[in-house]
Amino acid sequence: MVKTMEIEVLGRALSTLPADDDHPYRTGPWRPQTVERRVADCEVIGDLPTDLDGVYLRNTENPVHPAVSIYHPFDGDGMVHVVGFRDGKAFYSNRFVRTDGFVAEQKAGGPLWSGLAEDPAKSPTQTGWGARGRMKDSSSTDVVVHNGVALTSFYQCGDLYRLNPTTLETLGKAGWNGRFPSDVGVSAHPKVDEHTGEMMFFNYSTQAPFMHYGVVDDEDNLVHYVDVPLPGPRLPHDMAFTENYAILNDLPLFWEPEALAAGKYAARFHKDIPSRLAVIPRKGNTSDIKWFEADPTYVLHWVNAYEEGEEIVLDGFFQMDPEPPSGGGTIYQRMFRFLDNELMGPKLHRWRLNLRTGQTREERLTETTSEFGMINGLHGGRRHRYAYAATALPGWFLFNGLVKHDVETGNEEHYKFGEGVFASETAMAPRVGSTGEDDGYLVTLVSDMNRDCSECLVFDAARLADGPIARVQLPERISSGTHSTWAPGSAIPDWATADDPATAIGL
Ligand SMILES: [Fe+2]
Repeated sequence: MVKTMEIEVLGRALSTLPADDDHPYRTGPWRPQTVERRVADCEVIGDLPTDLDGVYLRNTENPVHPAVSIYHPFDGDGMVHVVGFRDGKAFYSNRFVRTDGFVAEQKAGGPLWSGLAEDPAKSPTQTGWGARGRMKDSSSTDVVVHNGVALTSFYQCGDLYRLNPTTLETLGKAGWNGRFPSDVGVSAHPKVDEHTGEMMFFNYSTQAPFMHYGVVDDEDNLVHYVDVPLPGPRLPHDMAFTENYAILNDLPLFWEPEALAAGKYAARFHKDIPSRLAVIPRKGNTSDIKWFEADPTYVLHWVNAYEEGEEIVLDGFFQMDPEPPSGGGTIYQRMFRFLDNELMGPKLHRWRLNLRTGQTREERLTETTSEFGMINGLHGGRRHRYAYAATALPGWFLFNGLVKHDVETGNEEHYKFGEGVFASETAMAPRVGSTGEDDGYLVTLVSDMNRDCSECLVFDAARLADGPIARVQLPERISSGTHSTWAPGSAIPDWATADDPATAIGL
């Protein structure tokens, strides 16, 4: 039933972006938001199932100031969008993450830190965050829910900002019983084991030992933190876990050491250096780490891992060409070639790490290029069969389709959003009372350039090709964005009993 949308304005941010902005990642599908809104009862086209119960959260790089010189799309301030589903209805809200950097730049009225594409030595502020240093921790990369709280994170390492998962109010930073490793921070992609409530994480820096690994318990206490010594500074982005192990990586795409010594941060792929995968017992010590060698590549995202006999099975996206040629074109085209999945060619791949022999076996699972794979979270660290991944528009960091990989049969099911329609990472929401891995819904946000609107699309996970079963209308066309998560209502305090799930969660 179509109803009139009642939109509440919650806040507005100062934006100093130029009116005639021509940056490709601040305009078009990436046009950022400045207004924070809430819609308590969204208009829905189609019928929302009542057994879709919980929140879809998506982080977004949402800039409000121009860069010092060159804006990189990973520099934008964190903005989280939430669509919550309960009783066949949906609510929506979007809020900035109140990071220290965002607050400082709102006061200053302009950029205070250099971005990824800029020289850190020329940063207006000489202190800052990130493995590279002197960057703004924009907390705009990833979002997970742990211990009933949404946590946003930053790919270069920084704080974890705590957000109410329904109102998106920023509650502060993770403190972890006073043991948060503020000296290095925490990388994006901490992993929550939905069965134990534990969260595993890593961080990385340019200082030895170059990486750490840790575990936070289900009551938000840091209970484990160890060195993971690497041969030098590396650029890990993601990790994986099984029931008993965590899996970290040392991949041969890293800042060139000589350039680094001169203060330059140039990532290079070393095609003759093997990939190395670290397997550590969940609460193991540095001396317990087993390293496995594998074919050289870079993996931005893993899908999942699990134990099978004496092997660990690890699925992720093997990049065929981690450092595509720079070619010509504009500075934007050269800079953003690292965002073009058509060039890097990530393909779903399986590594089998034999804990007894120390050997690695590898297998390409498909020739289809895809990335940003999500699974049913209840299968995290356990055997999985399905991965729901994104296909990208060639030349752009924009997702134009969804592919469901069946890693048992090799079957693939595709859905194309249509020309000019771009989705975010698509989360899998198990149906309340679900009886199988595929028994649930796929949820994503789209920015539709044709109709100048945004929607939250809901698919039956078992019938992807049939298209969305419901389309929740958002109040404005929102910026394209990437990482997302699904949290069931059962993981959110007061969710089941609150009169209004959009506002009543008290944290
Ligand atoms: Fe990521």
